Amino acid sequence: MPANEKLVLALPKGRILTEVMPIVRAAGIEPEPAFDDKNSRQLRFSTNRPEIDIIRVRSFDVATFVAFGAAQLGIAGNDVLMEFDFSEIYAPLDLGVGHCRMSVAEAAELVAEDDPSTWSHVRIATKYPAITQRYFAARGVQAECIHLNGAMELAPALGLCRRIVDLVSTGATLEANGLMEIERIADITSRLAVNRTAWKTRPCEINFWIDRFREAVHADEA
Ligand code: PRP
Repeated sequence: MPANEKLVLALPKGRILTEVMPIVRAAGIEPEPAFDDKNSRQLRFSTNRPEIDIIRVRSFDVATFVAFGAAQLGIAGNDVLMEFDFSEIYAPLDLGVGHCRMSVAEAAELVAEDDPSTWSHVRIATKYPAITQRYFAARGVQAECIHLNGAMELAPALGLCRRIVDLVSTGATLEANGLMEIERIADITSRLAVNRTAWKTRPCEINFWIDRFREAVHADEA
């Protein structure tokens, strides 16, 4: 099969991949051995299915590859999907893994004296400026976002800003950095993401894989 006719499935690197791979495998996709070889610098992998290749990219880039049709399928958290809000991405299936929440947090010692209902302007360090601005704008608060790519829990102690918006799972990172969660913006899980044009032009193949992933999720729940 020519490489440009293959379906490309974009998967996110990092911690989330260990939760996602059992579903990918249960859907019947087994990557070539290099995928699990930590020394390999390969980024695109063939699979046991001649019609599917896997690429492994940063979680934000999964959305970009799928939105532009460079990958027809992908797995991304709804944090990433909400941040970009790409109209070209259709996310038909919650995979039920990667559970966490997106929250506003501030220094623990600030919590007692702070009243979020009085805010008119806040300065926030985050990887999610679009979600943060939308969330605060909906209640008339202007959010000035300082864009960081990680480790935003450092920002309040170093005087960059007093509040952050970030993902919280166990809460250990907030606690270790003297921060407390004060508002929950959204619950987060991983979703199957599909490029809309590919879905329209290759409906049989794409629907087949949506169904396989749906069955894999339901088998896992049973
Ligand atoms: C995420 C998130 C928090 C942390 C929360 O970071 O950004 O920093 O996990 O998890 P916890 O509540 O269980 O402590 P991750 O380690 O995925 O790396 P990142 O900073 O690159 O996003």
